[in-house]
Order: sequence, then C-alpha cells, then structure tokens
Amino acid sequence: MTRLALAALHLVALGIGLGAVWARSRALRGDVQPADIRRALTADTWWGVAAALWLVTGLWRLLAGTEKPTEYYLSNHVFLLKMGLFVAILLLEIGAMKTLTAWRRHLARGETPPLDRARRISTVSAIEAALVVAMVGAAVIMARGLGSH
Ligand code: HEM
Repeated sequence: MTRLALAALHLVALGIGLGAVWARSRALRGDVQPADIRRALTADTWWGVAAALWLVTGLWRLLAGTEKPTEYYLSNHVFLLKMGLFVAILLLEIGAMKTLTAWRRHLARGETPPLDRARRISTVSAIEAALVVAMVGAAVIMARGLGSH
C-alpha cells in the first residue's frame, strides 16, 4: 500500500511540477505586467511543492527499497544520470530563487519589483522543464532494468 501511494505521489509531483515550471516560464515571457508577476509567484510556490514531494517520495523509494534494493539504484548509471539532472535543476534554481524571494519582499512592502531578471527566469524555467522531461526518460529506462551494467 505504501509502495503504491509513493509511486502515485511521485507521479503527481511530475504533474504539478512540470505544469508549474512551464507556467512560471510563460508568465515571465514578453511584456511582464503586475498580474504576470502574481501568476509567476503562484506557479513558483507550486514548483516548490513539487520539489518537496519529489524529494520525499523519491528518497523514500530509494532508501526503503519499496521497488528494488537501494544498491540497484546506486549502481545503475541511468539512475545516477537522473540524479545528475536533478542536481542541475537545483543549481539552475538558485538564481531564480534569490530573485523571486526578493520580488516577494518588494511586493510585501507594496513596491513593484525590478523586472530586469524576468526574461532570464523565463528562460531558466524553460530549460528546467526540459530537464524534468529528460528525467522522466531516465526514470522509465532505469525502472526497467536498463543501465545496470
Ligand atoms: C524532477 C524530479 C523527478 C522526476 C521527473 C522523476 C520521475 C520519475 C518517474 C516518471 C518514475 C517512474 C518510473 C517508472 O516506473 O516507469 C520515477 C521513479 C522513481 N524515482 Fe523519480 N523522479 C524525480 C525525482 C526523484 C528523486 C529526487 C529521487 C530520489 C532521490 C527519485 C527516485 C525514484 C525512485 C527510487 C523511483 C522508483 C523506480 C522503480 O520503480 O524502481 N526520483 N521517477
């Protein structure tokens, strides 16, 4: 039962996360209006929810061995590629997170945030969406026994 719940929640995170990061990218493309900033920040919150859900369910599946023993994953090249892609997303996210946290502070003070980084966050978000899709590819390959030798 736990095994099925973890598998389902891991996929729900994919639905939430891919939609959210794509929405964040779209909201910050072109001529950004105040309503777009709010849309981007809402999408950003859901992106964070997905990241937490991915980490908790992924680490649980990895460490508790609900599908396969932990050693299977740690010695599987495609699983390690999947983790490398996840780290790449986290590294790309650092800059976006700093800027969006500053935007939230500006809005809390009733000010309009400086939008000079909006275009960059839009591009970074689109790259992150592509990396998530690559992770899905790696996940389905490694889950079926490929990449183990
Ligand atoms: C962007 C983040 C992630 C995406 C898109 C993703 C995607 C997926 C998908 C689609 C599967 C199902 C594979 C299948 O049964 O065909 C899966 C399984 C799995 N994922 Fe993730 N995942 C992510 C993050 C993580 C993280 C952070 C971890 C561990 C730290 C992790 C560990 C696992 C494990 C252990 C499985 C089980 C594979 C099996 O059935 O043997 N995932 N992932």
